[in-house]
Amino acid sequence: MNNMSNRPVRPQGAAIGDRIPFCANDESGQWRIQAMSAVTGPELPIARYLHIGDGGPENTPVWTLSAFVSNLRYTTALERQALHEQQAGLGRADAQHAVLIPIRKNAVWWSMAQDERREIYTRSDHTPIGLDYLPAIARQLHHCRDLGEPFDFLTWFEFADSEADRFRELLTRLRATEEWSYVDHEVEVWLTR
Ligand code: HEM
Repeated sequence: MNNMSNRPVRPQGAAIGDRIPFCANDESGQWRIQAMSAVTGPELPIARYLHIGDGGPENTPVWTLSAFVSNLRYTTALERQALHEQQAGLGRADAQHAVLIPIRKNAVWWSMAQDERREIYTRSDHTPIGLDYLPAIARQLHHCRDLGEPFDFLTWFEFADSEADRFRELLTRLRATEEWSYVDHEVEVWLTR
């Protein structure tokens, strides 16, 4: 195990289950919004900043999405070991870029049993594809389906300027998979510190 695996990977040091608000507004935030675009489904309203966590700006947010860090659903013990050995934590000084990707999966996906969903996830090589991009891309998955939110997941990625093209390549590979045929709403929010 290398040193990077010991760094915290949760935004603002949140623990499993803590509700984390992602608040887009025009006043202030840790991140400046560079670009927003819907990949599938409707756009999110345009805003200038993203504030993560409580105690945000006092103006009315343009939109707020909330989610929490949860336990693993599909990852095997071996995969978890590989991830722990290779992944970097959030908040690296050279990771000046972040991308927030809210994702919703459709009713067919959620009507399947856990083992059926896991088979598709595994057949799609999601984890092996993702491992190709570690440690350059740091990541955190947040869940929000059970909160009655408009999305099921808020996915979060941080990387250095030099890795932006590699990140786009990762998106292209994942979006070509069987798993992504069940995604019915996906928006990219590109950010800089
Ligand atoms: C950076 C490389 C990546 C790695 C190593 C990675 C790894 C993983 C792993 C291990 C899981 C399963 C968690 C579990 O067991 O519950 C997962 C789930 C997920 N990932 Fe990735 N991923 C990566 C990139 C991405 C990207 C770029 C996106 C979005 C465009 C994404 C979206 C998701 C979503 C939505 C889930 C939840 C799937 C579900 O529960 O139905 N991942 N990822």
